[in-house]
Amino acid sequence: MNTTALNIVVLISGSGSNLQAMIDAIEQGQLNAKISAVISNRPNVKGLQRAEAAGITTHVIDHTEYDSREAFDQQLMQMIDQHQPQLVVLAGFMRILTDDFVGHYAGRMLNVHPSLLPEFRGLNTHQRALDAGVAQHGVSIHYVSNELDGGPLVLQAVIDLNQSDNVESLKERIHRLEHIIYPMVIQWVAENRLEVINQQVYLDKQALTSPAKWIDNQLVL
Ligand code: GRF
Repeated sequence: MNTTALNIVVLISGSGSNLQAMIDAIEQGQLNAKISAVISNRPNVKGLQRAEAAGITTHVIDHTEYDSREAFDQQLMQMIDQHQPQLVVLAGFMRILTDDFVGHYAGRMLNVHPSLLPEFRGLNTHQRALDAGVAQHGVSIHYVSNELDGGPLVLQAVIDLNQSDNVESLKERIHRLEHIIYPMVIQWVAENRLEVINQQVYLDKQALTSPAKWIDNQLVL
């Protein structure tokens, strides 16, 4: 394992429960990372309080104060780069990003999306999964590309839907899994086990022909 902690910046827009899972994993010695800063595009969100409680530097860049997506992204990029992160972690960051921004962090920016991508890109994934009557649902960790929720997939946690599932129960079940698998993937980066080259993800130098899966609390490659 690397002895130096992976320097990360986490971007949020809301509750920050994934951020909390990372903070906890670091405290528990399961994640060898240092969160240099948490940046939110919305003021006064719970995720900022969580960061402050953990003694992490926070910044708010309120997107409503910018005339264009480009201007906002440029400011965000400047702020992120001040911290020189090795990895940018999107954790419930509800913004569509410009190509410039995505290109700047190519291969070093991860996102979590609450569906088994490529199914259900975009919003309201749990309702859409229920409406479609799928047997399985889940959450994906992926590198970020120019396509919305479309970058190379790393790891997906999969659940079987129950008859009794509704949006609330799915939200809770999926969140619980996000909190396990997102810190796990970041730890792979910290250990230099994960990389993406020409849109192909490699784990331990092996090309992943399909995303790694987390099923019933076990990693399946
Ligand atoms: C998560 O469900 C994540 O999949 C999605 O946004 C939500 C963020 O939750 N991208 P939180 O702010 O980490 O609690």
